[in-house]
Amino acid sequence: MKIIDSPIQIQPELVALKRQGKKIGLIPTMGNLHKGHTSLFEIARKHCDILVGSIFVNPMQFGANEDLDKYPRTLQDDIEKLEAINVDYLFTPTEKIIYPQGTQINTSVEVNRLTKRLCGESRPTHFKGVSTVVNILFNILQPDVVVFGKKDYQQYLVLCAMVKDLFLPIEVLGGEIVREKNGLAMSSRNKFLTSSEKEKASELRKILLFYAEKIKQGDRRYGAIRLEAIETLNSKSFNIDYFEICNIYDLERANIRDKKILIAVAAWMGKPRLLDNIEVNLSS
Ligand code: PAF
Repeated sequence: MKIIDSPIQIQPELVALKRQGKKIGLIPTMGNLHKGHTSLFEIARKHCDILVGSIFVNPMQFGANEDLDKYPRTLQDDIEKLEAINVDYLFTPTEKIIYPQGTQINTSVEVNRLTKRLCGESRPTHFKGVSTVVNILFNILQPDVVVFGKKDYQQYLVLCAMVKDLFLPIEVLGGEIVREKNGLAMSSRNKFLTSSEKEKASELRKILLFYAEKIKQGDRRYGAIRLEAIETLNSKSFNIDYFEICNIYDLERANIRDKKILIAVAAWMGKPRLLDNIEVNLSS
């Protein structure tokens, strides 16, 4: 695997490969890689010839009181994981390279729809940071196909919208959530859970499955379900950010006519804020 931190070095190499007809697949990450990430590389591999990963802990997507400083940085370990799965290139830029003028006066990219609700409500600047950095990475690395994990379902939809709105010639794929044995969605932030918190955190998945089943059985009392679920989560030591039953396309609250639904939850268990969701298809 070639590890390169300079855009002026990696870009001509990838452009030359594209000219030879090779398809570039990119997985942008913030490092601290786990099986959730490696599954995205495995998806991309089926759609491209050259597999590229990037590791950049993006300061622009962290709010002032969030965990930027504590975000786990494990580059050596990550390199070993990517080498083991035969990734071709790893791009590891510094903050100075990505934001030479600082994050405040750099040009930014903002997706206006989809970003105000759910995570956007408690993290109002987060998605602007995500769409800006991903656009920068796209411009440097010129991917033909990219894969984002659906644990951050809203991020996946926001980036699909960005690619569509800006006519970027890139195919965006979504990777299914990879889980620990107890059902907890894999996340770099899970390492901040104590073992008893980890056990309690597995309730998130169980509650999602329970309400998904209720909805499939015909219960459409979405407002009441939401309140009931929040109460249950509170009683199980979660500190809720949101529990929402949404239309999967625009993330607005679902109504009884919606056929494709996303139940999405964000909640703190101890220190980390955990995300999870489940898609419910009511069309059949
Ligand atoms: O999902 C992530 O790890 C990040 O938000 C991403 C897409 C790499 C942008 O920094």
